[in-house]
Amino acid sequence: MMSLLDVKGLNVDFSTKEGMHYVLKNVDFNIGKGEIVGLIGESGSGKSTLAMTVLDINSHNRHMSGNISFMGERIDSIKKEKMRQVRGKSIGFVPQSSMNALNPLVKIKSQFFETIKAHTNMSREDMLSLTEKSLEMVGINPSRMNSCPYEFSGGQRQRIMIALSMLLSPELIIADEPTTALDATVQLKIIELLKDVVKQKHTSMLVISHDLHTISRICDRIYIMYAGKIVETGTRDEILNNPVHPYTRKLLASRLPLMCEPVRVKGISGTPPSTLKKYEVCEFMERCDRVSEICRTVRPPECTGSVKVACHLESNSECHLE
Ligand SMILES: Nc1ncnc2c1ncn2[C@@H]1O[C@H](COP(=O)(O)OP(=O)(O)O)[C@@H](O)[C@H]1O
Ligand SMILES: [Mg+2]
Repeated sequence: MMSLLDVKGLNVDFSTKEGMHYVLKNVDFNIGKGEIVGLIGESGSGKSTLAMTVLDINSHNRHMSGNISFMGERIDSIKKEKMRQVRGKSIGFVPQSSMNALNPLVKIKSQFFETIKAHTNMSREDMLSLTEKSLEMVGINPSRMNSCPYEFSGGQRQRIMIALSMLLSPELIIADEPTTALDATVQLKIIELLKDVVKQKHTSMLVISHDLHTISRICDRIYIMYAGKIVETGTRDEILNNPVHPYTRKLLASRLPLMCEPVRVKGISGTPPSTLKKYEVCEFMERCDRVSEICRTVRPPECTGSVKVACHLESNSECHLE
């Protein structure tokens, strides 16, 4: 399958007053045409950083190395102006907390027109009909395009953001935590909506979440991220039915029954490691319940090329699970 987005050996550090934060570590990552790919990990693991690095935003104190190719072309070193064209037109972005990203007091129609004008010279009628179609696609009555965002519910605003990100039929959508602030029933509807629009428009999607259980429903493939590293990757079925990395296994075990009331869930005990430190061994070791001798001395394999699990367990048959 041809790769639409291909990220290779991506390292991202941020310099701050406290020192250097090592956030992404040798990330290899790709999305094929028409694929829905999930990126899952705890808060702070570097998911949004990966998305924003691909889109070249939040770059003021960022240092990166590695390759990012989109549709066969390197985009990590192109001019800002050209990157602005890629963003919005070729890659649609639904940023984290995006239901609050719309200007609450500006009519939906004006915000849609602004995006269209930034990338095309469409006539007014064409802009109008495109806006109508896009709103219809996400189940918002087009007659409401003269309303302002504050007049909609959170779920409706999220639908509007999805419509906006798809407006110019991008090849790729990046949706960062698209369901996080919504309640469970609305979450499900938004997830199904994303899947429907992506399939309908023959787009690809990177969907980011800390919630493996909800997001995995619509993913073809999944990457699990821990402390800025891809720790496991596989098809949806491989990840859900045959997880290998102890972190993936813990994520699955702490799953919440989807439709139930919020209850106290047994999370994963311990805290993620500091981004200020460079690790010589496995970042997950302190929280891992399968630590063996080798973990204390040798860094696990990297999830690149044909390696699908960044853990000694995978390469050491003696300690195979169950
Ligand atoms: N511009 C920045 N400067 C310094 N640290 C940053 C910057 N952007 C993100 N980080 C740090 O990078 C880490 C990963 O953040 P983020 O990518 O937002 O994680 P996630 O989306 O998985 O919750 C966090 O520790 C965050 O504080
Ligand atoms: Mg994030």
